[in-house]
Amino acid sequence: MNLLITGCCGHIGSYLIEHVHKIKKIKKTFIVDNLRSNQINSLFNSKKKNNLYFSIKDLTQKSCLDEFKNVDYVIHLASMTNAANSFANKKLMYYNNIESMKNIIKFCMKNRAKLIHISSTSVYGKQAEIVDENCEKKYLKPQSPYADIKLMEEKMLKKVSKKIRYSTFRFGTIAGVSKGMRFHTAVNQFCLNAALGKHISVYKTALHQYRPYLSLKDAYKTFKYAIENDLFENDIYNVLSENCTVNQILKKIKRYKKNIKIKFVNSQIMNQLSYHVSKKKLNLKGLFLENKIELDIKNTLKLLENI
Ligand SMILES: NC(=O)c1ccc[n+]([C@@H]2O[C@H](COP(=O)([O-])OP(=O)(O)OC[C@H]3O[C@@H](n4cnc5c(N)ncnc54)[C@H](O)[C@@H]3O)[C@@H](O)[C@H]2O)c1
Repeated sequence: MNLLITGCCGHIGSYLIEHVHKIKKIKKTFIVDNLRSNQINSLFNSKKKNNLYFSIKDLTQKSCLDEFKNVDYVIHLASMTNAANSFANKKLMYYNNIESMKNIIKFCMKNRAKLIHISSTSVYGKQAEIVDENCEKKYLKPQSPYADIKLMEEKMLKKVSKKIRYSTFRFGTIAGVSKGMRFHTAVNQFCLNAALGKHISVYKTALHQYRPYLSLKDAYKTFKYAIENDLFENDIYNVLSENCTVNQILKKIKRYKKNIKIKFVNSQIMNQLSYHVSKKKLNLKGLFLENKIELDIKNTLKLLENI
């Protein structure tokens, strides 16, 4: 079977392409990225056993995927992803992510390819206590253009549900080392600032608020599980390793880097509510994600220890 991965040079994609050979069904993997991020380094020293075929493609271009035939699965990771910056880049982000999604859906329908679509737990904007995938619509309150786009993508898929097979995975904030790792999300940014001896900026309301985090290893485990167990039931699943407060994340960092400096700041995406995201629905499908965010933090700090 053949797989197409979009956004292969990003944080998650670069990890996935290094491990894709472990997904037994997959023989050949087409990988695409528009390289706007210039992260060709994500493809350095790729292993022959992964059987990767890279092309530069911009997914906003209508016929950009026409050359790919016999694709059985698509993992769609290509996206503009910086939530905090999405207020300033709103127009471009809507265009890039929505047009890309349209073209991916068309491609999957035409080729009968099964789709893994990545959404985000940030669609649960203002929530209290535990949130699950079946929560009432009124609780889906994205707090940024980025999260709003994710919800739009989910709706686009629901609309064509009879013509395509897919899973939408709402990922928590990623932690973990990869060749294309980026540092605009909470855990990685905190680790980078800790390593540089700079202040760690924490949203004023966020210190004791719970949020969901996802280890890269568990993200990969989810892709593998979906393909190997044919988990394409046109449904939505939360995907996370742990719910933690920012304070708990900072404590984990302090175990490996003693003197860290913290500064409290305002942000457009902060809010007053703390919430736990439930992973029960995925557990009921037989998938258990238990990797420790602390290990990802340790590995990230190790990577940065001599700078
Ligand atoms: N990193 C996280 O914490 C996190 C959390 C929840 C969901 N997600 C989602 O997971 C997916 C992958 O995230 P990531 O962290 O690897 O992102 P990333 O920003 O590191 O990588 C995205 C990649 O997509 C490419 N890309 C963007 N637009 C493109 C286009 N039009 N055509 C081709 N390539 C394009 C970029 O060049 C980049 O290499 C995204 O949908 C993201 O929203 C990420």
